[in-house]
Amino acid sequence: MLVSAKEMLQKAKEGHYAVGQFNINNLEWTKAILLTAQENNSPVILGVSEGAGKYMAGYKTIVGMINGMLEELNITVPVALHLDHGSYDACYKCIEAGFSSIMYDGSHSPIDENVANTKELVKVCAEKGMSLEAEVGSIGGEEDGVVGAGECADPDECKRIADLGVDMLAAGIGNIHGKYPANWAGLSFETLAAVQERTGIMPLVLHGGTGIPVDMIKKAIDLGVAKINVNTECQLSFAAATRKYIEAGKDLEGKGFDPRKILAPGVEAIKATVKEKMEIFGSIDKA
Ligand code: 13P
Repeated sequence: MLVSAKEMLQKAKEGHYAVGQFNINNLEWTKAILLTAQENNSPVILGVSEGAGKYMAGYKTIVGMINGMLEELNITVPVALHLDHGSYDACYKCIEAGFSSIMYDGSHSPIDENVANTKELVKVCAEKGMSLEAEVGSIGGEEDGVVGAGECADPDECKRIADLGVDMLAAGIGNIHGKYPANWAGLSFETLAAVQERTGIMPLVLHGGTGIPVDMIKKAIDLGVAKINVNTECQLSFAAATRKYIEAGKDLEGKGFDPRKILAPGVEAIKATVKEKMEIFGSIDKA
């Protein structure tokens, strides 16, 4: 059964580790992440952007697929299905479809509008037993059409949103979706510390997990990050493994054209990336 992310993040916060949110794109992606979580006895959050939701034939299709996998693959570790960077409308669609967690990204709206919408969603999610993530200060770069300037969040605005009763808070701290540019200034630990200081025990979320050096990840966890989002890195691993298969001409040998064979190296590559992240985040054996 899908669970809210609330309890797993509170446990992570208390235990000084982080739970990974891995974004999904299709059946292979989802199966790879769920099996890796189970094999490593780790809690996990499956992230779905609005673009990925459309690609996978809608939120209800995704809920059906994941509920089926939890049962048929005997997945017993805690799994949350979470809308990533949701608009107000998408949040309601996912609530209706049976997601167990949502992110309302009001960071592109004026703070008063972000507060009003987040407040309303806190109430709805509490009634449904779902967890809610809010955002202050946009994440840089682009993810599925969501573009952000990458400014650092205002800690006082973070407190305003945290006090509404959200379960986790994403604060912009110089993090970027996608690959980091060579001249990236790094995470602003000063901002992170100030946000945590103002928000007390609120589990903080680090977006843009791809390519952040391990020492920065560990420091972010020390300063209060309990959830880390990874998307691009699984895409890069999948693409590299698939390229290798095709470039080696494997699709031209015997039944190598079988889609299950073509996709297999990419699936193994996703599993390896997810395991590596779980090790770094410290979530192994924390289910
Ligand atoms: P990356 O694609 O940079 O890993 O970021 C993922 C993310 O933050 C999803 O919201």
